[in-house]
Amino acid sequence: MSKRVRKAVFPAGGLGTRFLPATKVIPKEMLALVDKPILQYGVEEAIASGIEHIIVITGRGKSAMEDHFDVSYELDAALERRGKNDLLALSRSVSSMARISYVRQKEPLGLGHAVLCAKELVGDEPFAVILPDDVIDADPPCLQQMIEVFDEKGGSVLATMTIEGPGISAYGVLAGSPDSANPRIYNCTGMVEKPKFADAPSTQAIIGRYVLTPRVFALLETTAPGAGGEIQLTDGIKALLKEEKVYGYNFTGKRFDAGDKFGMLQATVEFALKRPELGEKFRAYLKGLEL
Ligand code: UTP
Repeated sequence: MSKRVRKAVFPAGGLGTRFLPATKVIPKEMLALVDKPILQYGVEEAIASGIEHIIVITGRGKSAMEDHFDVSYELDAALERRGKNDLLALSRSVSSMARISYVRQKEPLGLGHAVLCAKELVGDEPFAVILPDDVIDADPPCLQQMIEVFDEKGGSVLATMTIEGPGISAYGVLAGSPDSANPRIYNCTGMVEKPKFADAPSTQAIIGRYVLTPRVFALLETTAPGAGGEIQLTDGIKALLKEEKVYGYNFTGKRFDAGDKFGMLQATVEFALKRPELGEKFRAYLKGLEL
């Protein structure tokens, strides 16, 4: 069994209802943040973190994701004919970006079920899970930070961010105490899904990045459907906690929930401001708005 984290699972089989009607035909994961599909941001983060094999869990009507990372013969030929070498290089870089496999989730039966669909391709080794709609701006990349914690501690790692105040109720919240040597690492003792503010066991909200040991697959297989009739990843991790050590990791960087309209707007503004070719013009435009 490899002890290195080499594979990353991208659950992308959901319905994306919060973005209807855009997501009737276009997968949520293909919505553009400035000019790149949100899925590509996650794939780039995984590669920059040392991941060698990407496994995308896809669903009905979502083949645009496969086409995006495939060779686009007609487009490339047209760009070549027109001498658009920069754009040709850009298109080719996407199709040669990574080794990607796709697994169809026949029905969107929940995040835990989506992860379970990757069982055969992952095999008996630790792996990462990246929720593509959590776009993270971080240096070093969030997943790389987590893999470093996994390598040091040898147990599963859940990325967290601090939320002081009632906003924490929208998240799964970690129970546990900070490590004495590194206060960003939490010894996880439990998790509470969307607690009332008064009942939140900590300020640490669990976000869409995980490094998990393969034991979670067997536990997900015996996990009964939870909230909304879906197999929840959180329930699988709770079962894992009874057998193995699990850590929270308060990553450094900024996370955007691009699966939600408001989060997508925030990400669009901040990522556009950082773009060399757009930033200055966009800043001037925003400053000129009468708000
Ligand atoms: P979300 O709950 O954010 O995605 O799941 P959703 O269900 O597609 O979106 P809404 O809430 O209806 O707008 C987080 C990630 O998990 C995937 C989604 O595609 C998304 O990337 N997912 C969710 C699956 O792959 N399968 C599922 O059964 C559920």
